[in-house]
Amino acid sequence: MSKVMVLFAHPGQRHSQINLDLANVARSVDDIGFVDLYADYPRFKIDVDREQERLLVHDVIVFQFPVYWYSTPSLLKEWQDLVLEYGFAYGPGGDKLAGKLLVPVVTAGGLQDAYREDGRNNFPLRTLLSPLEQTANLCQMVYVPPLVLFAALSARNDGRADDHIKQYRLLLEALRDGRFDVEAARRRDLLSDGALPVLESV
Ligand SMILES: Cc1cc2nc3c(=O)[nH]c(=O)nc-3n(C[C@H](O)[C@H](O)[C@H](O)COP(=O)(O)O)c2cc1C
Repeated sequence: MSKVMVLFAHPGQRHSQINLDLANVARSVDDIGFVDLYADYPRFKIDVDREQERLLVHDVIVFQFPVYWYSTPSLLKEWQDLVLEYGFAYGPGGDKLAGKLLVPVVTAGGLQDAYREDGRNNFPLRTLLSPLEQTANLCQMVYVPPLVLFAALSARNDGRADDHIKQYRLLLEALRDGRFDVEAARRRDLLSDGALPVLESV
């Protein structure tokens, strides 16, 4: 069993069409830690000690967020700026996150085709999220490629939302139960390229 924590960052939850459902799944899976960052820190006054203590007792950190301006919502960036301290997450003695998994679970308004070098957004989403990836590398974490729901605003009408929500539940359960094939996942560009790499049993 691994200890999994979801850090959920969504500043406009009243208008959310998909992340709230995803967050409710995360809340409902047994033995998963769930943190709603905007609920905990509406004024951005992050309790660094509490956040670092939470990190220490979990093996898998899931960042769940909607892509905002090709990046994370600002509170999740603030969280990184303050919580991933020198001497804790990197630098001398800064090995407290070594070996932990970082798993981005993101929704994007754009179509997958827009996230190509010849597409409207000019870069693949994996590339745009590379600051997160390199942050994980610097902190000696194991980065798992993002699970992405593209064209998130039409996912319900297109009939893609329920399957994605189901995939998220499977992912969290597999991470918790040690059935997630990390090496197979890391060979992908995006975790959402194909069926989840989940082992039958351990
Ligand atoms: C401030 C803001 C910035 C956004 N930036 C992007 C972006 O850079 N790329 C993208 O694909 N979608 C972008 N979107 C669309 C959101 O990613 C999309 O609405 C969200 O993933 C849908 O999930 P939700 O219904 O749970 O909010 C942006 C939306 C807002 C409000």
